Amino acid sequence: MTKFSYAEHLADFKTTARWLARRGWSEAAGGNMSIRLEALAKLHEDDHIELPIEVPYIAGQVILLTGSGTRAREIGVDAEPHIGLYKIADDGRHYGWIAGNQNPSMELPAHFAIHNALEQYRPEDKAILHTHPASLIALCHIPGFDNSKTISDKILSLQSEARLILPEGTGFVEHELPGSLELGLKSAEAVAKHHLVLWQYHGLLATGETLAGAFDKLEVFEKSARVYWQLRAAGIDPAGIDEGEIKNTLTAFGRLARYPTGI
Ligand code: 13P
Ligand code: ZN
Repeated sequence: MTKFSYAEHLADFKTTARWLARRGWSEAAGGNMSIRLEALAKLHEDDHIELPIEVPYIAGQVILLTGSGTRAREIGVDAEPHIGLYKIADDGRHYGWIAGNQNPSMELPAHFAIHNALEQYRPEDKAILHTHPASLIALCHIPGFDNSKTISDKILSLQSEARLILPEGTGFVEHELPGSLELGLKSAEAVAKHHLVLWQYHGLLATGETLAGAFDKLEVFEKSARVYWQLRAAGIDPAGIDEGEIKNTLTAFGRLARYPTGI
């Protein structure tokens, strides 16, 4: 197997995977992760695999992506065998495997489509993390919890700093076939505005400057969802912190402009 050396990024995969496994969010082979990088050197060109979409913004870049069926609990011990390095061709319509794991995540179309959107809208976000946290998946089964505004307002109003860390709230994509291009395209649209996207009945997708940064946002959202379920288990349907109070907090920290207005 061709070796590659992106030590700092492999460490990000390893640490994040360890925590995903520890928290029980990536059960079995659930979840996947990727990091987008500028190609450090002219890599051997074998970028002939046709992409189902055009990704012009990431043409010529390389992506580290977890392999399909790889387990967080094993990536957390030794990341390298579980991660493949792929290069997007200069035409933005093809890609090729360069090194490492050769069997990419079934969510490759989503990862590539989202990296393309991130490069366009939020280029500092280089990392994408997808996982299956129980408290967030459970929210999707509540009648009416089927849109970004309802879920964001209800869940991120339960703790003083949650909305401060996630002023935009979460994006939401209705149920789509796992691994499908539709899931990828809808998620790519959602990440233009959101660092988080809840995949209905499936799990969460988070973006960040690093995988650890994406994990931070996931952790805050999941914590708020757990607070919600604790209250519901106690028979309380929480009204949450008053919207005026939330806006005051966002104003105090200079983040009000990131709070969505209207529906
Ligand atoms: P992969 O193992 O192919 O990445 O699939 C896991 C998953 O969670 C799909 O959504
Ligand atoms: Zn999944």
